[in-house]
Amino acid sequence: MKPVKVGICGLGTVGSGTFNVLKRNAEEIARRAGRGIEVAQIAQRRPNPQCDTGSTPITADVLAVADNPEIDVVVELIGGYTLARELVLRAIANGKHVVTANKALIAVHGNEIFARAREQGVIVAFEASVAGGIPVIKALREGLAANRINWVAGIINGTGNFILSEMREKGRTFPDVLAEAQALGYAEADPTFDVEGIDAAHKLTILASIAFGIPLQFDKAYTEGITRLTTADVGYAEALGYRIKHLGVARSTDQGIELRVHPTLIPADRLIANVNGVMNAVMVNGDAVGSTLFYGAGAGQEPTASAVVADLVDVVRAMTSDPENRVPHLAFQPDALSDHPVLSIEACESAYYLRIQAKDHPGVLAQVASILSARGINIESIMQKEAEEHDGLVPMILLTHRVTERHMVEAITALEALDDVVGDVVRIRVEHLN
Ligand code: HSE
Repeated sequence: MKPVKVGICGLGTVGSGTFNVLKRNAEEIARRAGRGIEVAQIAQRRPNPQCDTGSTPITADVLAVADNPEIDVVVELIGGYTLARELVLRAIANGKHVVTANKALIAVHGNEIFARAREQGVIVAFEASVAGGIPVIKALREGLAANRINWVAGIINGTGNFILSEMREKGRTFPDVLAEAQALGYAEADPTFDVEGIDAAHKLTILASIAFGIPLQFDKAYTEGITRLTTADVGYAEALGYRIKHLGVARSTDQGIELRVHPTLIPADRLIANVNGVMNAVMVNGDAVGSTLFYGAGAGQEPTASAVVADLVDVVRAMTSDPENRVPHLAFQPDALSDHPVLSIEACESAYYLRIQAKDHPGVLAQVASILSARGINIESIMQKEAEEHDGLVPMILLTHRVTERHMVEAITALEALDDVVGDVVRIRVEHLN
């Protein structure tokens, strides 16, 4: 049988990794797909000296790949929302299947893209958009299809996890580790997407849609980054038996769906709390299966290429099948998506870590306890440190039981108004994941 012809758009870190893996493992891949997969065209703006593309035709115009009648599958690896959206929609309109690693594109424009793909009867595959090399989309969409999913919680940004791990283990500074993550090709073109949680929110939006059968709603995701975390809080969390991780949490409740990305204390003995460096891990809790954990490299050249090439194999296997009988893009049949609302962060529920800087006076603890109890906030534990030499303030660290964010915000406002409390109260959410 003739090989399937693929056009790779973008020959950066992931594009060159994809080219190299397709070439190196061509025989093994053809045995799996049932046909060869041939890169018939590459679109690249700048030459990539790290990738020997041999005699493969090269163009600088990505849209020329979408318009090339020879090409069966367009692989979109240029990133961003604008040209990438045009490219993908053009490829779909021309009846081509699409494979993309672009989480921003899927999270923001996925509803439109999948609607067009259905009209044209083509596949849009996007495994590499979430958690790099971990096949978590396939697991959630197919392997766990028997379950009602209760929650998904993941470390889904490799750069952020790499930064937090290096800071905690080696005492390195934030800019120093970020520069290394950029050099290693982990970070986004705009690294604020990594450290402010936007990249993780894109991925969580995709996971939540597939887990709960809801449309993609990136605009409703709550996003808080890691840039304001201090080494003091990392140390206090350790002393209490926790690790701080940048976690994406999607939870189904009777009121709606929680969709939030933020620094989170996790008990240090959980497997996911021990996921370090650029590694990602996603926990999925289903009513039948219980808790599962998917672990692997969340970024990087060949781990991400692994997911892109697996999608290509899937496309080749399914391209001759009846479009109605393929796995739906978002796991649930498109006419069966739910309108269960995504909750605002004020309506979400979590346990909390609080750090209060207090003057060393009698009765401060009693005032703090009274403010919390007046709002029904149950204290789980309290740790009070010695007064700090430079300012005489006492760091008071509290862990609370679960409470809605609205009540916690009210309590923090009241705590900050106390004469004996100095500065802002530090608040980090806590998830036990059990
Ligand atoms: N910048 C992303 C990360 C790349 O660090 O996880 C993979 O999506």
